[in-house]
Amino acid sequence: MRKLFIAGNWKMHNGVKDTEDFFNELFNLVSNYEKVDIAIAPPFTSIPKAVEVCRTKRVLIGAQNMYFEDKGAFTGEISPQFLKELNVDFVILGHSERRHIFGETNDLIAKKLKKALNEGFIPILCVGETLKEREDEKTETVLKEQVDSAFNNLTPDEAKRVIIAYEPVWAIGTGKTATPEIARDAHFFIRKRIKELYNSIVADEIRILYGGSVKPENAKSLLQVDQIDGALIGGASLKAQSFAEIIKIGM
Ligand code: G3P
Repeated sequence: MRKLFIAGNWKMHNGVKDTEDFFNELFNLVSNYEKVDIAIAPPFTSIPKAVEVCRTKRVLIGAQNMYFEDKGAFTGEISPQFLKELNVDFVILGHSERRHIFGETNDLIAKKLKKALNEGFIPILCVGETLKEREDEKTETVLKEQVDSAFNNLTPDEAKRVIIAYEPVWAIGTGKTATPEIARDAHFFIRKRIKELYNSIVADEIRILYGGSVKPENAKSLLQVDQIDGALIGGASLKAQSFAEIIKIGM
């Protein structure tokens, strides 16, 4: 039985003050959420505040990116060791904004994934096709390439610890959500590929989240799909009210 994972990716939103306000409001709105894993990835500079206010709560705090080296001349990058100092639990890797705006390749993402696992983080690996790729009927080819490259160098035990987020690029921040059928098919394809690469134990254990315009209004129909093990939420995770509504649907 895979536990539901409801995660917020704040992207470049919510500084330190907004972070504190968010969690104070969230904990007034939800309690007894043992059945669900709750996670938030704030911007780097808000992580210490998030960790501080969540200290006695069961909420995972993550980073939105991480480099694969520990230190060196890598201006603007963040070391896994710095994230460990802050008690970060998870890292989002290969988000489509990292791939498409900042030019991250499958190879780079695979190195980061291996490093994140070596350092004990829970990695959330994002995969997903663009609108053009979907229209050209290349969705499965793209998903296969992204999954194969990321898992190329991972043992079965490492693979089980990865959380995959299927985020079709055309659904991110656009208000266009994938239908539950589209999401189910993509999740099924990804899980099948994991089974081919490893075995059915790994494929059954690995959690696959859906991301792309998840809102309180559509969360129920997505989360009730058997292949969907949770959500990675952008816009609707920024306000405690809407994030709490989605958590309650999962509870
Ligand atoms: O990582 C979450 C994300 O890309 C989806 O964003 O705003 O469409 O929920 P949004």
